Parts: sequence; structure tokens; C-alpha cells
Amino acid sequence: TTEQKIDDLLLKMTLEEKIGQLNQYTNDANPTGPLVINPNKEKEIKEGKLGSMLNVMGADRTRKYQELAMQSRLKIPLLFGLDVIHGYKITFPLPLAEAASWDLPLIEQSARIAATEAAASGVHWTFAPMVDIARDPRWGRVMEGAGEDTFLGSKIAYARVKGFQGNKLGDLNSVMACAKHFVGYGAAVGGRDYNSVDMSNRMLWETYLPPFKASVDAGVATFMNSFNDLNGIPATANAYIQRDILKGKWKYDGFIVSDWGSIGEMVAHGYAKDNKEAAEKAILAGNDMDMESNAYRYHLAELVKEGKVPMSIVDEAVRRILRKKFELGLFDNPYRFSDAKRQEKALNNPEHAKVAREIAAKSIVLLKNEQNVLPLSKDTKTIAFIGPMVKPKRNNHGFWSIDLKDVDSTYIVSQWEGLERKVGKNTKLLYAKGCDIEGNNRSGFEEAIAIAKQSDVVIVSIGERHDMSGEAKSRSNIHLPGIQEEFIQELQKTGKPIVVLINAGRPLIFNWIADNMPTIVYTWWLGSEAGNAIADVLFGDYNPSGKLPMTFPRDEGQIPLYYNHFSTGRPSKDDNDKIYKSAYIDLPNSAKFPFGFGLSYTTFTYNDLKLSAPSLTSKGSITVSFTLTNSGKYAGEEVVQLYLKDPFASVVRPIKELKGFQKVKLNPGEQKTITFTVDNELLSFYNDQLEWVSEPGAFELMLGSSSEDIRLHATFELVK
Ligand code: IFM
Repeated sequence: TTEQKIDDLLLKMTLEEKIGQLNQYTNDANPTGPLVINPNKEKEIKEGKLGSMLNVMGADRTRKYQELAMQSRLKIPLLFGLDVIHGYKITFPLPLAEAASWDLPLIEQSARIAATEAAASGVHWTFAPMVDIARDPRWGRVMEGAGEDTFLGSKIAYARVKGFQGNKLGDLNSVMACAKHFVGYGAAVGGRDYNSVDMSNRMLWETYLPPFKASVDAGVATFMNSFNDLNGIPATANAYIQRDILKGKWKYDGFIVSDWGSIGEMVAHGYAKDNKEAAEKAILAGNDMDMESNAYRYHLAELVKEGKVPMSIVDEAVRRILRKKFELGLFDNPYRFSDAKRQEKALNNPEHAKVAREIAAKSIVLLKNEQNVLPLSKDTKTIAFIGPMVKPKRNNHGFWSIDLKDVDSTYIVSQWEGLERKVGKNTKLLYAKGCDIEGNNRSGFEEAIAIAKQSDVVIVSIGERHDMSGEAKSRSNIHLPGIQEEFIQELQKTGKPIVVLINAGRPLIFNWIADNMPTIVYTWWLGSEAGNAIADVLFGDYNPSGKLPMTFPRDEGQIPLYYNHFSTGRPSKDDNDKIYKSAYIDLPNSAKFPFGFGLSYTTFTYNDLKLSAPSLTSKGSITVSFTLTNSGKYAGEEVVQLYLKDPFASVVRPIKELKGFQKVKLNPGEQKTITFTVDNELLSFYNDQLEWVSEPGAFELMLGSSSEDIRLHATFELVK
């Protein structure tokens, strides 16, 4: 068995060779933290002193490094890891944007394609999915996750892990996934990257841990811990989360890699006096692999010799890593993923772009269409396409896309190209940039206004630059940057119908536009097929169905603002109810655009709610059904959302929580009976003893089109 093979290998390994397996270096590229160039890297690989590399890709390049490992005494293959976050060559929408599709099969498929391409390029392991719950849009990394909700986030985490890993590790189109960042990273104080996290254990268990548990349930091969401290203990050396929860309670058999330099960073945290103590604390707490701290490399042998780290702990970490190398089939053939021919084929598969276009269209969220300007007619005579996002290509990839050295990664359909391909020969397209994303240069206004005046419709594409959200891209001000809002105000004076496209990696604040412009489309960053997907939606070849996976605030002062907040003792009835209420005197409480919100070109009605019984026992269930009707003129998809509320419990509970959703496609006039099953699991929560319990009593059930747009209500009882 694999475990016996690992036993045999461990018996042959020297301490240096064991420590080598726990050591990971970058290929001197893409540093996202301090980089110590190691001139002896190749020599050390030949000596068996390295277990893994990151930022190495391409069939030839990975093969070259693997050949060095094959010169080592025990010929233990290297693992190649890479941040394949939303695609490899073909890029998909940012993960947050994809989450807006609420389309689990398609989200799985996008990860599957990314895995197929990466695995054919010698990559064994992606540092994805990021499953951190994120309730603070100032945090730049919200773009990399599935948003604010634990239920949706857990379903997406599961789908992404399944997508990356496919049927089983070892298949040639599968890569190891990595659930990151364990844990709490999304709750960094003030939305500032790498900042501290302090939360109750109940919050940790109920809100932040479930997507990680879902990843374990999906069979995720690896975990990455996190830069932040959690309640005073850096995640990297946090035994409670790594040993007690993950490896203990959840019986996890994969391995945990540190984040870049996060072992060494415990010195700056003031939690270890030097790199040696940091190494000791990290490995004792369950951190298996050291990414870029060089802490295990320089200090672990000494720590073992001094008796501070038992050999059994080192062996356990090595075993976990070797297990994955066996499962990937690397001991049978270390080059099996580094196949130039397969790479050539996988990276030029037109099917991949088709799926990217489909999911990109499904990620778009229609925020306003008050005058039914959309969908546009393909026979429109003159269209002005204006703005700083129209022509550039690279932008559309978004942050965390891979700059491929060995292959052409420039395949992107710009927004302009997408429009050009879509309209008929008789449509005249006019272009002007108008303004920059940042700065206050107004010199382009005049030309843009002039072409707007010559047009029947104006489409204006603005937003955040692609690298304004991502790692280390926290912003205290998330208003639309520069003078873009002022530019739209000037365009509005032309009196022309204007469609505003907003490109961003996070929820932005754009109140004037939201209040004054009747047609607004949130496009996020959509990847390689952005241009085609945007054109598909604008002209009605795809009827938008995206729903926001994060709350859009009115002002930074409301942050963190999320729909499933706890009930307070002084709730305000509405935005005007402020006197001695839990409210701001200078701002409404409500969101600008709430969680779960997104329009369609058609309308849906919800009728005829039925519950199979007025009550259930903890072993039983209730079937909830209602009729959904497409009451508009276009075929379309609705994301039906089920929310529950436990109005009275032994601990304070959220005002509502998403507990189910379905994406339903209906033709005009078509009706469908939608059913959900409510059981004890959906009614359960962590009590103040951290026990997962349900408590008898009344529950409220809400069905709707967003967290604020509840169409059907019912109550039922949980009885003993
Ligand atoms: O995977 C990432 C992580 O999310 C942030 N720090 C660097 C890692 C490797 O690039």
C-alpha cells in the first residue's frame, strides 16, 4: 500500500532529506513577499533538499527541474505549485464574479478546464480555491473568493475543489487543490491585508470554518494557512485550528503549506523570537511545508537534535507530503504531467474559450434597467463605446492571472472587439476613451461628448483598474476612482440613452451613478472572453442572471455591511427609523445593492407557497414548494433564494440566513414548481458551548429574488 511504501522510504531518508521534503522555493519569479534568491537551488535539488517549487510552469521547464530531482539519492519527485486562481491560459471571470453566477456546475467546469490546462503544463498543484468568507470590500482579496455568505461559499468551495481535482488525484487532467487561507484571513481588521483577526470561536465555527469543511468533504488535497493571527496566535502556528480542528476533528489526511514567508513573519508578529523558534512553533502546530521562509531548511535539524521537535512530528509532515506525491503517480513517472504535446493540445482547445464565454456572461450582474434600454438592438444605427476599459486587453484577465512564459497568454477578446463582432454591418461604432481610470485629466471629455451626441446609444465602460483589487490591494476608499463619475455626469447632459458598465474586482461605491443613471451593468473582470460575454448580454443573446455575492455599501462608513447580521436589541424598522435605534444618524443602514440582488430582462413571479406540514421533528423534514413563473417577455434564469430565520434561540441569531438556492431557466409564460427540503441540519447552529444544535420553536421561512426582495413568507415549528 501507499502507507507501506512511505514507511519504507522514511526508513531510508536522512533527517536532511526529510526536511528537504518540507521545503518549498519559488522559481525566483512572481514574488508576493520577501524573496531571498538562492544561488544553490539546483545543487540542493540534486541533494534531495527540496520537496516542492512554486511558480514553475510549462512542460519543458518543469521537466528540467524534475530531472534535477531525479539525480538525488532517493529520486523523490518535486511538486510544482502555482496560483491557478481563475484559469491558466484561458482565463475565467474572477472567482468573486463567478460566484455571482450561482451556477455550481459551471463553476466546477471552469476549475476543471483550468486544471486540464495547468496539469498539461507540468503543474501538479494550484493554490486555490480561496474559500475565505469576506465581508469587507476594502480588502483587495475579496476578488479571489466567493463573497460574504457561508452557505453559498461552502457550495462553491466544494464545486471548485471537485473541479480542480476531477475524479481523482493522479488523473492527467487533475491538479491538487488547496483550501486557503486557514483561517480567518477574510476578517482582517479594517479590511487591511495581512492584518490581525479577532473573533469569537462561535463566529469562527459558524461563519468562517464551513467552507473549509466543505473543501475537506470534497477531498481537497492540501490546505494553506494564513498570514493573520487568529485571536492572538498566528494561523501558521495555531495548533487549535491545524491540529485540533483540521487534522484532529476533521481527520484530514492532506498536508498544510504555510503562506509565503508566514513562518518567518511570526518574528514580526512578536510571536517567535527568531526564525528558529518560528520553525519550532509552526511544525509543532501542524504546519507541514514551509513556503519561502527557509525556517525549516536552516533550523529544523537542530531543533530535532535538541529534542525540541520530535522526529515523529517531522515524519508525520513528510508522510503527508509523500502521500500526495504517490497519489499523483509521480513515483511511477515523475514527468507524467510535463508533456509538451499534451500541453500544446490542452492550451489550444477552442472548447475552453466557449465555456469561458458562457460563465463570463453568467457572471454579469444587471443592476438597473429602468427604461428598458437593454437589450440593445443589433440594428442600432450608431453606437458610441466610450471609456478607459473599452480597448485595453490585459485588464480583462483581472488580478491573479498567469503571465505564461512558455506559451501565448495574450488571448483576450477586448470589449471593443466583442462589440464589433456582435453588431451588424449597418451599425456604426464610434470610440473615445473620455477619461483615465485615475487622475483628473479632463482633456478627453470633449471628444467623447461629441461622439455621444452623434450616437443613438452610448455604452460607457469604467471602473477600477484590474490591479486595484487583489493581494495587498486593500483600499480605504472604494468609491469609483478618479473623475469617472464626473465624466458620466457630463455624458448624461447629452440626453442620450447611456448604458454604464462597471468593471471591478470588488463592490465599489458609485452613488451618483446608481441614483441617476437608469441602466447599469456590473461586469467585474470577466477573463479572456470578456468582450464577447459583455456583448452577449448587451444585445440579449444572453439574458443576465447574475446575483451579487456581496453586499454593496453606500459608504465606507457602513463597512462591514452584510445581510446576515445578528439581531440587535434596538433594530430600526427602516432607514428612517433612527431615534435611539441601532442606526447611523448620517447614513441609512441599508445596502445600496443587497446580497443576492441582480435583475433580468424578464420578470419572475413567486406564488402559491405550500409547506408539506406545519412542523417537523429533528429527524424529519418539510417540503417547501411554490410556483415560479416567467412573467416577462424573454427567456431567462432566476436564482431563487431560500432564507431562514430562527427568531428566538439560546444565542442571538442572524436576521436571516441563506439556506438554499436554485437557478431555474424558464421561457416566457412558463411556470415551474420549485421545491426545497428543510431539515434539522438547516435549522442547526453553534450554541455557546460550540455544540451544533437545533432548538425547538418557531422558524421563519422566506423565498425571494434577493436577500431584500422576499416574495413569499411562512412560519413553521421544530418540535421535539
Ligand atoms: O497562494 C498565494 C497566497 O494566497 C498569498 N501569498 C502567496 C501565495 C503563493 O503565491
